[in-house]
Amino acid sequence: MNILTNNNTAPKIYIKTYGCQMNSYDSDRMLELFLSNGYKPQNTYQGANLVILNTCHIREKASEKVYSELGKINKEKQLLSKENKKMVIAVAGCVAQAEGDQIIKRAPYVDVIVGPQSYHNLVGLVQRINQNKTIDKVNLDFIEEEKFDHLPEERVQNNISAFLSIQEGCDKFCTYCVVPYTRGAEFSRPAEKIISEAKTLIDSGVKEITLLGQNVNAYHGTDDKGNSISLGKLIMSLEELSGLERIRYTTSHPNDMHDELYEAHAGCKKLMPYLHLPVQSGSNKILKLMNRKHKIETYLEVIKKLEIARPDIVFSSDFIVGFPGETEQDFNDTLKLVEQVNFAGCYSFKFSSRPGTPAANYENHISEEIKSSRLQELQSLINKKQYDFNKSFLDKEISILFDRKNGDQLIGRSSYLQPVCVPYNAKYFNAICTVKISHTGPHSLNGDVTC
Ligand code: 5AD
Ligand code: SF4
Repeated sequence: MNILTNNNTAPKIYIKTYGCQMNSYDSDRMLELFLSNGYKPQNTYQGANLVILNTCHIREKASEKVYSELGKINKEKQLLSKENKKMVIAVAGCVAQAEGDQIIKRAPYVDVIVGPQSYHNLVGLVQRINQNKTIDKVNLDFIEEEKFDHLPEERVQNNISAFLSIQEGCDKFCTYCVVPYTRGAEFSRPAEKIISEAKTLIDSGVKEITLLGQNVNAYHGTDDKGNSISLGKLIMSLEELSGLERIRYTTSHPNDMHDELYEAHAGCKKLMPYLHLPVQSGSNKILKLMNRKHKIETYLEVIKKLEIARPDIVFSSDFIVGFPGETEQDFNDTLKLVEQVNFAGCYSFKFSSRPGTPAANYENHISEEIKSSRLQELQSLINKKQYDFNKSFLDKEISILFDRKNGDQLIGRSSYLQPVCVPYNAKYFNAICTVKISHTGPHSLNGDVTC
């Protein structure tokens, strides 16, 4: 959302996004809604007529950041008001869903709150606010699919890589997680709508599509004949679309892997050999307390099946350290698992107690010091593995999708999502090229385009 405009007459919108890729997707869709209603985007809240904070509730830190940002934005709102200019402040996303009324109490200058399933109403709500008409400040309805029917088909940014939301919500109720409460029950979009959206994206130049869902491999949409269709089947249909070159999906749950998905990994060349498959802990005792509903043995079986289907596949995962009751032994089991699996990079977090989740009321919470030292130890192991993985690419020729420029460098992503930098050349921007790797670092690779 870094587009600046010189058009001074159009109302200006600024959106700040916190958290996951689903939120990035939602922010882009909100921006499209307002652009098609005459707004112009800008990359600061200063002087904006509409500010939307699209928030994340997953960990305490992410939630608290919202309130400090709101305080700063309100100062600007007051300044503008002295100049007789109006700024509307909207809070969207998961903090909105979880804390609706409380936000208005803590920050009464917020004009409107919309949840992840009701943001399509925002244009109408903002219009009413600007006309000084009354509105319900808190809008948190959950009406499945309705949102998608109200969003514009066209995308604002002509990127080569795009997200496509296919599934939302989660029925898993892991004991630490707020998602089932903020995003609601699992819901899958109909396959034909997804395929039509994919075609629109491809027509606009997109070559890589990442299918998004909180539990994306639990996808169970229907096709145009009303038959049930799995994520595996959906990927097989997308594989047929000419112009599309890369398919990814995220985030998955180990229990929702299914035969058609293994078949897709084996047979679909466009499906990238890199899978984010969170396991959270290497200890069966902790997995049980987390209500993950799978064991380490099941996780390793899934990994094995995927490796058989697609021998060049590698994985990433999420880990939580310092879950209530986690002993040294449990933590060592996590380190052991990280050693064992072909992980190319993982995310790890300290357990954050979230109000309303069962784990918040568990006994044996772990001290901050222990959490921090375990996180550090886990992250250095993860970083070492990532560096070793990167080193294995030295002198190799690999395919890179270039989508960013930074100074005199062009930056792209390998099939394994490694950032790869080459000297800038406009003709490779928004293209997929072969690059010979000449240098490998802990977090990125460098090289030169060979064709
Ligand atoms: N504390 C710490 N990490 C959490 N996650 C989800 N809830 C919590 C929490 N309460 C992590 C999980 C999940 C990722 C998106 O965020 O690892 O996979
Ligand atoms: Fe949260 Fe668990 Fe659902 Fe993932 S599977 S969104 S961690 S409840």
